Amino acid sequence: MGKRYLVTGGAGFIGSNFIRYIMAKYPDCEVVNLDKLTYAGNLDNLKDIGKHPHYRFVHGDIADRQLVDQLMSGVDYLINFAAESHVDRSIGRPDDFIQTDIFGTFVLLESARKHSVEKFIQISTDEVYGSIDQGSFKETDPLMPSSPYSASKAGADRLAFSYHITYKLPVIITRCSNNFGPYQYPEKLIPLFVTNILEDRKLPIYGDGQNVRDWIYVWDHCDAIDFILAHGDLGEVYNIGGGNEKTNLEITKFMLNKLGKPDNLITYVDDRLGHDRRYSLDCSKLKRLGWRPSNQLETALNETIDWYASNRWWWEKIKSGEYLDYYKSQYGSELS
Ligand code: NAD
Ligand code: TYD
Repeated sequence: MGKRYLVTGGAGFIGSNFIRYIMAKYPDCEVVNLDKLTYAGNLDNLKDIGKHPHYRFVHGDIADRQLVDQLMSGVDYLINFAAESHVDRSIGRPDDFIQTDIFGTFVLLESARKHSVEKFIQISTDEVYGSIDQGSFKETDPLMPSSPYSASKAGADRLAFSYHITYKLPVIITRCSNNFGPYQYPEKLIPLFVTNILEDRKLPIYGDGQNVRDWIYVWDHCDAIDFILAHGDLGEVYNIGGGNEKTNLEITKFMLNKLGKPDNLITYVDDRLGHDRRYSLDCSKLKRLGWRPSNQLETALNETIDWYASNRWWWEKIKSGEYLDYYKSQYGSELS
């Protein structure tokens, strides 16, 4: 038998891609996916894997101590993706961010401490550093998160670190830049704009559109996590970046151009509160360990746009609000 993975938040965007990645790479691994199925969780993301004999879906909350304790037994690798993940929602209502991102991570850490988990990967984010006008953040730079989302992720990031220092829990923390790819909930910039363009709807650019993000293809992120599981040192933090810094306007125009739609779909709207201007990571630590991304931005973005164009079944029901009825009819029996 291969390694036993407990993946939390595996019905979301990155978690579902990660499960697909490891199940293809390690056919004898076993995967348990613990997911609360919030608005962002979607079993359609793993439709091709749902019935695989080495895969089990568990509908539940990472903050549920009893359930987490049951699932932790026999786990080799815990990968904690579960989180509330959208900055705009955290500005509107931070409550669930504190509960899941901080308290939920605490429950997982406590449980992992009681069991002999071989590695605990805390999926943190580049947003914990805050914004940087020039230069790039190293892993040793101070954390200056500026949204309730990034502050809750910073709390979880440092809590995980403290469990390594205090209890010798085998924790590794990753801080990745902005992901894009298939199965990303259409509230984030790229899937929201691609699907709006496909429907000839307006593209709401916050502020002046000059905010910079470093984009990474989700498959490269999954590959980096797998690499870090094998080669990373316990107690360390690793930045994972795509090396593709672009303004929001550049990304938007690329997508409009690819789909042959006019720039006048762009509409400038009020800026996000506390909007971070630029994210930038120094990834030399991971590069020295031997990893770098293998996908080119243009190619991967073109493929991603094509994926949304040919998988309307996946996003149309989410955007139309018919999602919940469909969901209950499809997956009701798996949600007990
Ligand atoms: P997502 O919102 O698509 O998925 C989150 C998943 O977690 C959903 O399936 C949701 O149902 C589940 N979840 C939420 N609360 C839960 C709870 N209490 N218990 C169990 N499951 C719960 O998010 P994503 O974009 O896939 O991000 C995954 C992780 O990666 C997050 O921790 C996020 O902070 C981090 N991250 C994301 C990016 C990015 O660009 N998307 C970049 C760096 C780091
Ligand atoms: P987002 O995908 O929400 O990721 P994050 O805020 O975590 O980096 O947003 C990416 C960038 O796009 C960010 O600068 C905000 C901007 N943005 C818009 O201009 N309009 C939108 O409708 C959205 C969702 C984001």
